[in-house]
Amino acid sequence: MNYRHIFHAGNPADVMKHAVLALILDRLCAKPTPFCVLDAHAGIGRYDLKSEPARKTLEYQDGIGRLFGNPLPHPALQPYLDAVAALNPDGALRWYPGSPRLARALMREQDRLVLNELHPDDWQTLKEEFAGDRRVSVQRTDAYQALKANLPPKEKRGLVLIDPPFEQPDEFARMAEGLKAAHKRWPTGVYALWYPIKERPAVWRFQEAVENTGISKILMAELTWHPEDTHLRLNGSGLLIVNPPWTLDETLREMLPALHAALPSTGGGTKVDWLVPEA
Ligand SMILES: C[S@@+](CC[C@H](N)C(=O)[O-])C[C@H]1O[C@@H](n2cnc3c(N)ncnc32)[C@H](O)[C@@H]1O
Repeated sequence: MNYRHIFHAGNPADVMKHAVLALILDRLCAKPTPFCVLDAHAGIGRYDLKSEPARKTLEYQDGIGRLFGNPLPHPALQPYLDAVAALNPDGALRWYPGSPRLARALMREQDRLVLNELHPDDWQTLKEEFAGDRRVSVQRTDAYQALKANLPPKEKRGLVLIDPPFEQPDEFARMAEGLKAAHKRWPTGVYALWYPIKERPAVWRFQEAVENTGISKILMAELTWHPEDTHLRLNGSGLLIVNPPWTLDETLREMLPALHAALPSTGGGTKVDWLVPEA
């Protein structure tokens, strides 16, 4: 386990992923009944962009660095950028909310957050970040075990985030299998699966594997900032969203092009399509 998210926190891939997650959470808040968020690959929760690893890569400069303090590119980015602003009340960008802090910022009193992180140091940091927060529990197990152990949640409503580091060559296959098993336990949950856009054939194989699970109502959202003419760099960021909130597809078709225009790019673009429509 060599991957540490601090090197990448707030980069364009994080911005795309977190902006969409914030929108999903915002929509979940439309109903007063409680929901549960299960973050199966949680990371440390909050990232110091002035720390040595973040300063080494400076990846955030082409991501949140382009949005923070600038005019809002699209109103649907508001929940995400509000959460970032809340962590930086003096107006200088230092702290970046990972998916746990983002979820915590957008939850209500009645909602619950389950965080899972396997790396021992990151798990420890995450535990300290949320110590004493009674709405949050922190676990340390394999992500796919965490899905088995926590689904379905008692709230019967909510979001599952599957966001692995792609260190293992079979990660795409594990994700598809993990989704299938989780969906069997909890067919009505919202699932968000993040994937890197590097090598397009690998993405196609993953999407085909997800289609072959037989699950319906799967939205695909992608944002690329480089043309896909090499697989040696990260060209873009993708999400598959199972059971997306009503009209999320329409909002993403407007929001992602505005986000693409606000981020530096050498090409690429955005795509929002149903991988599998509602049955
Ligand atoms: C991409 S990062 C997560 C970022 C986080 N979701 C966010 O958006 O802020 C992936 C995390 O998964 C952890 N991880 C790696 N393998 C895992 C496994 N099998 N089960 C659970 N967590 C794992 C890594 O240590 C890393 O912190």
